Formats: sequence, structure tokens, C-alpha cells
Amino acid sequence: MLGLKLPTDPRWADLAGKSIEDILTDHAYCEQKATSTAISLIQNYPEYEDMVNQVSPLVKEEWGHFELVLQQLKKRNLKLGKQRKDHYVSALYTFMRNGGSRAESLAEKLLFSALIEARSCERFKLLSKNIEDEELRSFYKNLMVSEAGHYKLFLDLAYTIGGKDRTEKRWEEWLTYEADVMKQLELRGDRVH
Ligand SMILES: [Fe+2]
Ligand SMILES: [Fe+2]
Repeated sequence: MLGLKLPTDPRWADLAGKSIEDILTDHAYCEQKATSTAISLIQNYPEYEDMVNQVSPLVKEEWGHFELVLQQLKKRNLKLGKQRKDHYVSALYTFMRNGGSRAESLAEKLLFSALIEARSCERFKLLSKNIEDEELRSFYKNLMVSEAGHYKLFLDLAYTIGGKDRTEKRWEEWLTYEADVMKQLELRGDRVH
């Protein structure tokens, strides 16, 4: 799915279904980070007008997702907990190539974002199919569709800005690396990744 090289262990969705408060908390912060990342793309690369125009509405959308997750917590009398260290994102971050041209470094950041969207989308799909709570199933189905759109947006922008051949090769490297990270991460039901 979405080019990912290692499907999520099917046991994950069961574990997640048993720790709703924790998974919703972790999910809320994923949306917060998606918002912050989108804002920093605009702050750091304002000369890429087309990118700015396409990413700007995404900021609002991701923050809207954060608010939707908060609503789901409130409805269930659950609390937003503290943010925890995100081992998945930290591991991906170490793979990020620094240096190169502006276009290369922007394309690299877009691939990083595309990858996180792809994995989130895959996991939301699992939740939409497996979680017991009917409302949460449809909640995750809607989010899955939305994150799939973001994945495509980031990947398309990376190709346009970074150039087809170079980006294709680098995307393949990212996918291989991400599968390796997934393999090594502990399977936990209280984390989206
Ligand atoms: Fe989102
Ligand atoms: Fe997203």
C-alpha cells in the first residue's frame, strides 16, 4: 500500500483498540506535528510559491484533525495526555540528507512528510477496519482518505521540485529505510507509529 515495503503487524490494531486514550493522545500530537511541519515548510521555502499555495490549506486541515481527535477524547471522557518521544519520526529524521541545493533539500523534506503520511494512512486504515468502536471506525476511515491525499500532495511536489529521476531513486531509499525502522520498533498499541 502506498509503496510501503513492510505492512504493519496485524496485531497492532488489536493493541491500539485496547488503549484508546493513549492512541488518541499520540494521534493528536501526530496531527500537531503535521501542522508544525507544514508551517515550517512555508517559513523555510517561501520562494516556492506553488508549494506554499498547496501546503497552506493543509496547515488548517491538519489542525482541524487535531481538534477532531480532541473531540473524540472529550466524548469519551478521556484526557489528552502528555506528548511522548516519537521514536519513529526521530529515526526517520536521522536519514534526512542535509546540504545540496535548495530544491534538493526541500524535496528531501517533502519525501520525509510523504512517508509519514503514507504510514499514518496505512495505520488509520487498519483502525477503520478493526477497532470495536463504530464511531471511531468511521472517524479513522475519513482521516485515512485525507492523509492519503496529503501523501500524494507531498510526493507530487517532491517530484516536481526535486526532478523525476533523482526523486524516484531517493524515494526508493526512503521506503527501504522506513521498512527497516518499522522492523526494529517495538510493537505498541499506544502509538500511531
Ligand atoms: Fe492529519
Ligand atoms: Fe496529513
